[in-house]
Parts: sequence; structure tokens; C-alpha cells
Amino acid sequence: MSYKITVLPGDGIGPEITKEAVKLLDAVGETYGHNFEFQYADIGGVAVDKQGTPLPEQTVQHCESCDAILLGAVGGPKWDDETPDRKPETGLLGIRKQLNLFANLRPAIVYDSLLDASSLKRDVLDGADLLIVRELTGGLYFGKPRERREGEHGLEVIDTLHYTEAEIERIIRKAFDLARLRNKQLTSVDKANVLENSRLWREVANRVAADYPDVELSHMLVDNAAMQLVNDPKQFDTIVTENMFGDILSDIASMITGSLGMLPSASLSADGPGLYEPVHGSAPDIAGQNIANPLATLASCAMLLRYSLHLKEEADAVEEAILKTLREGYRTGDIAAIGEATVSTSEMGDIVCQQILSASIKQ
Ligand code: NAD
Ligand code: IPM
Ligand code: MN
Repeated sequence: MSYKITVLPGDGIGPEITKEAVKLLDAVGETYGHNFEFQYADIGGVAVDKQGTPLPEQTVQHCESCDAILLGAVGGPKWDDETPDRKPETGLLGIRKQLNLFANLRPAIVYDSLLDASSLKRDVLDGADLLIVRELTGGLYFGKPRERREGEHGLEVIDTLHYTEAEIERIIRKAFDLARLRNKQLTSVDKANVLENSRLWREVANRVAADYPDVELSHMLVDNAAMQLVNDPKQFDTIVTENMFGDILSDIASMITGSLGMLPSASLSADGPGLYEPVHGSAPDIAGQNIANPLATLASCAMLLRYSLHLKEEADAVEEAILKTLREGYRTGDIAAIGEATVSTSEMGDIVCQQILSASIKQ
């Protein structure tokens, strides 16, 4: 089969890690007889520099006319002082909104060989495997008005937390569907003791639960959830939450895996192409040094193969290749113990590719 993949490398370490992802998909194609056709487009700071906007129209067109999108990361200090319409992050939020990518899946799995890479204790982590389902196209990120204005007592600022009932219901249903495929435990995270948004969120979750009698629904306040994630991550199976809470909780959850450089994500709409990207950002502090961990992006490729291309065997093979690479002791700096030997971004990519190619020789 032939598949068209739009690649948006973006800024900072984005180009370095997407390069490894393209290499990996090529290895999958060679092994399983698929042809991946890559079309590259600009997003974020690089698009601002070249085209004066973080989300050029042609980029949107490329994203609309493909089977799946692979994104590196956007942003960096270079664009700190840009106006909101020229911020790299505005490009990322724009493509999420324009493609209606409302469901953001962020799995955090503990690999046995990385148990000592985390700042958390082994016993707390061993066996943790959770999925955060983050609402991605509503809430504080998109609510209007958003403004800075002169008030009676000087400057004032407004951001708006807005959700429609329909937006809440579709992400809750998606999370129930996903929980059904896992351990059938869904924790809905909110701030219903304070926010009207969260009170409606809870009502909708309770109503929808009637359609999923096989899934156990519970509710947790977000501040407690942040604490529980590091105290006892094994209590969680599937978590569903609104946009901003999901952003923060997923970075916390990354520490279960040992590094932010390990966490992949899939952003899905009801029908069109999905977008796949690591949870981490453009890591300006290590950009251009070939030391970033590419595994979050490679694991995002596994999600791309699974959710957008429905290539289950290939997705399993990529996940297996990552597992094997870690078991054999290969480490980038972020997951290495003090004094342990490390490999570079491109070496790590080569090793994972080699696992795929050599598995095929054995077949
Ligand atoms: P960040 O995720 O880029 O980096 C946080 C820390 O984690 C840094 O020390 C970095 O070196 C490290 N890190 C991140 N990814 C790594 C990897 N693959 N391997 C090894 N170490 C890694 O977050 P930040 O520094 O707060 O943000 C930097 C820029 O990235 C900002 O402009 C922000 O808006 C942007 N950002 C973009 C995305 C995205 O494109 N999806 C996500 C988060 C942040
Ligand atoms: C993420 C990032 C983005 C977000 C930023 C860069 C807009 O932090 O994907 O987690 O907040 O959604
Ligand atoms: Mn984030």
C-alpha cells in the first residue's frame, strides 16, 4: 500500500527527531512492503521566519490531503517577543483546531528497563500503564474573549474558559471507548468544587456512563490528581480531562516513564487525518546537538501506524523494537544513569530501525 504522510519538523529539536521518525517509517515500509510518501511543510517559528505566519495556508492544505501528519515541535526563545498571531505555538493550536483534532491521547507506560531512570521510586512505578485523554480544541486555549485592556484600575487581562456540552460529550465518549479497550477504569479529572465548567463536565460524564455499564467511572479533583500521579500512578487506567489540565498532567505523567523524551501522542478527529507528535517541546537548550531522545517521536509513529493507517502488526513491531532497544541498554542522555554510556539521537534512530529490519530477516 502507499500512504501519504505530511511531515512538519518545526523548531528546535523538531527537525532532528522527525528525521529519525521518517527513517523509521522507511524501515517499516521496506520490511512490510508499504510505500510512505512524505510531503514536508513549515509550521511554527520556521514558518514565521520564511513565510511570515506560523501556519501557512499551504501547510493546512498538505495536512488536509494526507493519511496522517507527523510533527516535531514548535517554539523557542527566538520568537518570545512576537505578537500572538506570529507566535509559533499559534500555528500548532491553529492546525489542531482547523483539523478538529479534539481527542489527544497521551499514554504513559513504564518500561521495565527504565525503572531506574525516573526520579520516582521503583516500587511506585513498576507496572504503571496509563492513558491520558486530553480535550484538545476547547477550553482556555480557545475561549473568547482573550484580551488585555485598560480597566478602571489600570491594565487588566481576560482569558475565557468555555466549553459546549457537545464538546464535553464527544471527548467523554471517546475516553469511555478507549477505556473499554483497556482496563475499563475511567477517571474524570476536573475542578468541580470551583468551576461551573467542571460541574457540567461531571454531569455529562455521569450521564454518558449509563451507556458504558462495563466501564467504572470515578471523579477526581485536578490538584489531587497531580499528587496521586506521582504518589501512586498504578491506581490509574484511563484519565479524561479538559485541555489545560491535560497539558499539565501529561508532563507530570512523563516522569513515570523516566523522561519527557519518552512520551508520544496522537491527536484525532472524528474522521480526517490524525496528527502525531511527542508530548515534549522544541527543547531549545539541547537543539542542534544530536543528543535529544527520539523515542517519544518514534513511539508516536507507532500510534500513527495503529490509529490512522490501521497497520496493527507494524505498530506492534515499532513498539517491540523500542522495547528491545531499551532492554539492550541503549540510552540517550536524558534516560541514562550517571556515568552510563549514551548514544546520540541519530544512533538511537539507527538502532530502532535496525531492530525492525533484522526482525524481518528472521521472518
Ligand atoms: P520542552 O519540552 O521543550 O523542554 C523541557 C525540558 O525537557 C528541557 O530541559 C528539554 O531539554 C527536555 N527535553 C524535552 N524533550 C526532550 C527530548 N526529546 N530529549 C531529551 N530532553 C528533552 O519544554 P519548554 O522548555 O518549556 O518549552 C520550549 C519550547 O517548546 C517553548 O517554546 C514551548 O512553547 C514549546 N513547546 C512546544 C510543544 C509542541 O510543539 N508540541 C510542546 C511543549 C512545548
Ligand atoms: C503540548 C504543548 C502545547 C500545548 C503548546 C506548545 C501550545 O505544551 O502539546 O503539550 O499547551 O498544548
Ligand atoms: Mn505541554
